[in-house]
Amino acid sequence: MTDADAATVVYLLTERLRLRRFTRADLPALIGYRNDPRVARYQSWESFSADEAEAFLAAQSTLQPGTPGTWFQFAAECVDTGALVGDCALHVRGDDARQGEIGFTLAAAEQGRGYGAEMVRRVLGYAFDDLGLHRVVAVTDAENAAAAALLARVGMRREGHLRQNVWFKGRWGDEFLFAVLREEWMGMDAGGRGGPPDTSERREA
Ligand SMILES: CC(C)(COP(=O)(O)OP(=O)(O)OC[C@H]1O[C@@H](n2cnc3c(N)ncnc32)[C@H](O)[C@@H]1OP(=O)(O)O)[C@@H](O)C(=O)NCCC(=O)NCCS
Repeated sequence: MTDADAATVVYLLTERLRLRRFTRADLPALIGYRNDPRVARYQSWESFSADEAEAFLAAQSTLQPGTPGTWFQFAAECVDTGALVGDCALHVRGDDARQGEIGFTLAAAEQGRGYGAEMVRRVLGYAFDDLGLHRVVAVTDAENAAAAALLARVGMRREGHLRQNVWFKGRWGDEFLFAVLREEWMGMDAGGRGGPPDTSERREA
């Protein structure tokens, strides 16, 4: 798939965001926010090089969202400006394709606008409505208050406080486990999900 083709593959739409494949044109912005200490603080990486970005793009370009055993990273682009505001990832487990995990990142300048909850809700909708998943989890650093607030906002339940569960940036770190079941998601009204259902559009390349 060429870069131009990739840019036209919009998997999911929300009111303000297009969730699509990453393209080479996104790499400067991706490298920029992944190297921002405010963004990297609770993430697995400390820095993100141009070579790592190229490897990321190459690996993602051959993936289809929802493929068991893989993480698909949706690039989140502002509908109005076309700017890359962040990304939202969905992992479908290889050992049980009815279970998934989400991850999410916004550039620092794009935080505090509700974009994070908007993209996570849309990807949860995709996971349950389109892929038919049974359960989706998210694991956050227990000190990452913004992430915990976002997950609570979209209706995910804090199921666990995992004490010193991970060796993280030179010390043992606590993590929170959040989860939502398909039946809970289906039972939530638009208010529970924090807003009206999003429209979606899916075009395969
Ligand atoms: C986690 C992260 C995505 C949360 O971003 P966020 O912008 O705080 O989250 P939301 O998108 O839910 O936005 C909510 C905020 O936008 C505000 N907001 C402004 N306009 C809004 C709108 N139109 N709609 C909804 N909320 C809006 C809300 O009031 C809220 O502000 P508050 O936190 O001061 O109460 C962000 O902190 C981040 O990218 N961190 C670095 C990466 C990271 O740690 N990821 C988590 C890994 S598990």
